[in-house]
Amino acid sequence: MADSLKIAVFASGKGSNVRAILEAIEAGTIRNAAIVSVISNNSDAGVLTLAREHGIPAIHASRKGYGSDSDFCRALIEILNASGANFIVLAGYMKKVDAEIVRAFRNRIVNIHPALLPDFGGPGMYGMHVHEAVIKSGKKISGATVHLVDEEYDRGPIVLQQQVAVADDDTPETLAAKVLQVEHELYPRAIRLFAEGKIIIHERHVRIEQEA
Ligand code: GRF
Repeated sequence: MADSLKIAVFASGKGSNVRAILEAIEAGTIRNAAIVSVISNNSDAGVLTLAREHGIPAIHASRKGYGSDSDFCRALIEILNASGANFIVLAGYMKKVDAEIVRAFRNRIVNIHPALLPDFGGPGMYGMHVHEAVIKSGKKISGATVHLVDEEYDRGPIVLQQQVAVADDDTPETLAAKVLQVEHELYPRAIRLFAEGKIIIHERHVRIEQEA
Protein backbone atom coordinates (compact mmCIF):
# COMPACT_ATOMS: atom_id res chain seq x y z
CA MET A 1 0.00 0.00 0.00
CA ALA A 2 1.22 3.49 -0.81
CA ASP A 3 2.02 5.93 1.99
CA SER A 4 -1.12 7.76 2.97
CA LEU A 5 -1.62 11.08 1.20
CA LYS A 6 -1.58 14.04 3.52
CA ILE A 7 -2.87 16.73 1.24
CA ALA A 8 -2.32 20.46 1.53
CA VAL A 9 -4.65 22.34 -0.79
CA PHE A 10 -3.72 25.71 -2.32
CA ALA A 11 -6.78 27.53 -3.64
CA SER A 12 -7.98 31.07 -4.26
CA GLY A 13 -11.67 30.74 -5.04
CA LYS A 14 -14.86 28.97 -4.21
CA GLY A 15 -13.36 25.50 -3.95
CA SER A 16 -15.87 23.36 -5.82
CA ASN A 17 -13.07 20.95 -6.76
CA VAL A 18 -11.96 20.76 -3.14
CA ARG A 19 -15.55 19.98 -2.19
CA ALA A 20 -15.64 17.15 -4.75
CA ILE A 21 -12.37 15.72 -3.37
CA LEU A 22 -13.57 16.04 0.23
CA GLU A 23 -16.83 14.31 -0.62
CA ALA A 24 -14.94 11.45 -2.26
CA ILE A 25 -12.74 11.08 0.84
CA GLU A 26 -15.72 11.23 3.18
CA ALA A 27 -17.66 8.72 1.07
CA GLY A 28 -14.70 6.32 1.17
CA THR A 29 -14.21 6.45 -2.61
CA ILE A 30 -10.75 7.82 -1.95
CA ARG A 31 -9.10 5.90 0.87
CA ASN A 32 -5.67 6.41 2.29
CA ALA A 33 -5.89 10.21 1.96
CA ALA A 34 -6.81 13.22 4.08
CA ILE A 35 -6.77 16.96 3.54
CA VAL A 36 -4.55 18.32 6.31
CA SER A 37 -4.68 22.02 5.46
CA VAL A 38 -6.23 24.49 3.04
CA ILE A 39 -4.11 27.52 2.22
CA SER A 40 -5.43 30.53 0.36
CA ASN A 41 -3.92 33.84 -0.72
CA ASN A 42 -7.44 35.29 -0.57
CA SER A 43 -8.91 35.81 2.91
CA ASP A 44 -12.46 35.91 1.49
CA ALA A 45 -12.13 32.69 -0.48
CA GLY A 46 -15.11 30.35 -0.16
CA VAL A 47 -12.65 27.49 0.03
CA LEU A 48 -11.51 28.68 3.50
CA THR A 49 -15.10 28.58 4.76
CA LEU A 50 -15.52 25.14 3.23
CA ALA A 51 -12.39 23.90 5.02
CA ARG A 52 -13.58 25.27 8.38
CA GLU A 53 -16.95 23.58 7.91
CA HIS A 54 -15.09 20.29 7.53
CA GLY A 55 -12.82 20.88 10.52
CA ILE A 56 -9.74 21.34 8.35
CA PRO A 57 -7.17 24.03 9.26
CA ALA A 58 -7.88 26.99 6.94
CA ILE A 59 -4.92 29.29 6.53
CA HIS A 60 -4.74 32.68 4.86
CA ALA A 61 -1.23 33.34 3.55
CA SER A 62 -0.57 36.11 1.08
CA ARG A 63 2.64 37.48 -0.36
CA LYS A 64 1.48 40.92 0.85
CA GLY A 65 2.08 39.87 4.44
CA TYR A 66 5.80 39.25 3.86
CA GLY A 67 8.81 41.35 3.04
CA SER A 68 10.14 39.25 0.18
CA ASP A 69 9.32 36.31 -2.07
CA SER A 70 11.71 34.15 -0.12
CA ASP A 71 10.16 35.09 3.26
CA PHE A 72 6.75 34.18 1.87
CA CYS A 73 8.06 30.91 0.46
CA ARG A 74 9.69 30.04 3.79
CA ALA A 75 6.41 30.72 5.59
CA LEU A 76 4.54 28.44 3.19
CA ILE A 77 7.08 25.68 3.71
CA GLU A 78 6.68 26.06 7.48
CA ILE A 79 2.90 25.79 7.13
CA LEU A 80 3.28 22.69 4.94
CA ASN A 81 5.69 21.05 7.36
CA ALA A 82 3.59 21.93 10.42
CA SER A 83 0.54 20.30 8.84
CA GLY A 84 2.53 17.18 7.93
CA ALA A 85 1.66 17.52 4.24
CA ASN A 86 3.33 15.14 1.79
CA PHE A 87 1.26 16.10 -1.26
CA ILE A 88 -0.08 19.39 -2.66
CA VAL A 89 -3.29 19.87 -4.61
CA LEU A 90 -3.71 23.15 -6.47
CA ALA A 91 -7.37 23.90 -7.06
CA GLY A 92 -7.89 27.29 -8.61
CA TYR A 93 -4.76 28.76 -7.00
CA MET A 94 -4.07 32.04 -8.75
CA LYS A 95 -0.38 32.28 -7.85
CA LYS A 96 2.66 30.55 -9.26
CA VAL A 97 4.10 28.03 -6.83
CA ASP A 98 7.65 28.96 -5.88
CA ALA A 99 10.37 26.78 -7.43
CA GLU A 100 11.65 25.89 -3.96
CA ILE A 101 8.29 24.32 -3.11
CA VAL A 102 8.23 22.54 -6.48
CA ARG A 103 11.66 21.09 -5.69
CA ALA A 104 10.67 20.06 -2.15
CA PHE A 105 7.51 18.34 -3.44
CA ARG A 106 8.79 17.13 -6.82
CA ASN A 107 6.13 14.92 -8.51
CA ARG A 108 3.90 15.45 -5.47
CA ILE A 109 2.05 18.59 -6.67
CA VAL A 110 -0.92 18.40 -8.99
CA ASN A 111 -3.09 21.00 -10.66
CA ILE A 112 -6.30 20.90 -12.65
CA HIS A 113 -6.62 23.01 -15.78
CA PRO A 114 -9.93 23.63 -17.57
CA ALA A 115 -8.77 22.66 -21.09
CA LEU A 116 -6.86 19.92 -22.87
CA LEU A 117 -3.23 20.82 -22.22
CA PRO A 118 -0.81 21.51 -23.83
CA ASP A 119 -3.37 23.61 -25.72
CA PHE A 120 -4.82 26.68 -24.04
CA GLY A 121 -2.37 26.74 -21.14
CA GLY A 122 0.41 29.00 -19.89
CA PRO A 123 0.53 32.51 -18.45
CA GLY A 124 -2.73 34.42 -18.82
CA MET A 125 -4.71 31.24 -19.54
CA TYR A 126 -6.91 31.03 -16.48
CA GLY A 127 -10.60 31.22 -15.67
CA MET A 128 -12.87 32.46 -18.42
CA HIS A 129 -9.88 33.40 -20.65
CA VAL A 130 -9.38 29.71 -21.33
CA HIS A 131 -12.94 29.09 -22.48
CA GLU A 132 -13.02 32.29 -24.53
CA ALA A 133 -9.87 31.17 -26.36
CA VAL A 134 -11.26 27.68 -27.00
CA ILE A 135 -14.47 29.08 -28.48
CA LYS A 136 -12.58 31.62 -30.55
CA SER A 137 -10.35 28.86 -31.96
CA GLY A 138 -13.40 27.03 -33.34
CA LYS A 139 -12.27 23.74 -31.73
CA LYS A 140 -15.07 21.28 -31.16
CA ILE A 141 -13.43 19.48 -28.26
CA SER A 142 -12.24 20.92 -24.97
CA GLY A 143 -11.91 19.24 -21.59
CA ALA A 144 -10.00 19.13 -18.34
CA THR A 145 -6.44 18.11 -17.51
CA VAL A 146 -4.84 16.99 -14.26
CA HIS A 147 -1.08 17.44 -14.44
CA LEU A 148 2.00 17.46 -12.27
CA VAL A 149 3.27 20.90 -11.42
CA ASP A 150 6.81 21.84 -12.37
CA GLU A 151 8.61 25.16 -12.70
CA GLU A 152 6.62 26.23 -15.77
CA TYR A 153 2.94 27.17 -15.91
CA ASP A 154 0.74 24.30 -17.10
CA ARG A 155 3.67 22.38 -18.57
CA GLY A 156 4.18 19.51 -16.12
CA PRO A 157 3.53 15.92 -17.21
CA ILE A 158 -0.13 15.07 -17.79
CA VAL A 159 -1.77 12.59 -15.43
CA LEU A 160 -5.38 12.41 -16.67
CA GLN A 161 -7.53 14.18 -19.23
CA GLN A 162 -11.19 14.06 -20.10
CA GLN A 163 -12.82 15.56 -23.15
CA VAL A 164 -15.88 17.80 -23.31
CA ALA A 165 -17.70 18.49 -26.57
CA VAL A 166 -17.99 22.16 -27.52
CA ALA A 167 -21.50 22.82 -28.88
CA ASP A 168 -22.07 25.36 -31.66
CA ASP A 169 -24.08 27.53 -29.30
CA ASP A 170 -21.70 27.28 -26.33
CA THR A 171 -20.61 30.53 -24.72
CA PRO A 172 -17.52 30.71 -22.50
CA GLU A 173 -19.87 30.49 -19.51
CA THR A 174 -21.77 27.39 -20.67
CA LEU A 175 -18.53 25.68 -21.66
CA ALA A 176 -16.98 26.56 -18.28
CA ALA A 177 -19.92 24.94 -16.49
CA LYS A 178 -19.62 21.74 -18.54
CA VAL A 179 -15.86 21.52 -18.00
CA LEU A 180 -16.21 22.17 -14.26
CA GLN A 181 -18.63 19.28 -13.97
CA VAL A 182 -16.05 17.00 -15.58
CA GLU A 183 -13.34 18.38 -13.28
CA HIS A 184 -15.37 17.25 -10.27
CA GLU A 185 -15.05 13.64 -11.46
CA LEU A 186 -11.55 13.84 -12.88
CA TYR A 187 -9.77 15.43 -9.92
CA PRO A 188 -11.03 12.96 -7.28
CA ARG A 189 -10.18 10.12 -9.68
CA ALA A 190 -6.62 11.39 -10.05
CA ILE A 191 -6.18 11.81 -6.28
CA ARG A 192 -7.53 8.32 -5.74
CA LEU A 193 -4.93 6.91 -8.15
CA PHE A 194 -2.15 8.70 -6.27
CA ALA A 195 -3.53 7.50 -2.93
CA GLU A 196 -3.55 3.93 -4.25
CA GLY A 197 0.03 4.23 -5.46
CA LYS A 198 -1.05 3.65 -9.04
CA ILE A 199 0.68 6.64 -10.59
CA ILE A 200 4.22 5.72 -11.51
CA ILE A 201 6.43 8.64 -12.54
CA HIS A 202 9.74 8.18 -14.26
CA GLU A 203 11.45 11.39 -15.29
CA ARG A 204 8.72 13.18 -17.27
CA HIS A 205 6.74 10.07 -18.07
CA VAL A 206 3.56 9.18 -16.17
CA ARG A 207 2.25 5.61 -16.19
CA ILE A 208 -1.02 4.58 -14.60
CA GLU A 209 -1.44 1.08 -13.27
CA GLN A 210 -4.80 -0.42 -14.01
CA GLU A 211 -7.66 1.30 -12.21
CA ALA A 212 -9.88 -0.87 -10.03
C1 GRF B 1 -11.30 25.34 -12.06
O1 GRF B 1 -11.94 25.64 -13.25
C2 GRF B 1 -9.91 24.83 -12.33
O2 GRF B 1 -9.79 24.21 -13.58
C3 GRF B 1 -9.08 26.08 -12.33
O3 GRF B 1 -9.67 26.90 -11.37
C4 GRF B 1 -11.04 26.57 -11.20
C5 GRF B 1 -11.27 26.34 -9.74
O4 GRF B 1 -12.63 26.24 -9.43
N1 GRF B 1 -7.70 25.77 -12.09
P1 GRF B 1 -13.10 25.86 -7.97
O5 GRF B 1 -12.55 26.92 -7.02
O6 GRF B 1 -12.56 24.49 -7.67
O7 GRF B 1 -14.59 25.88 -8.00
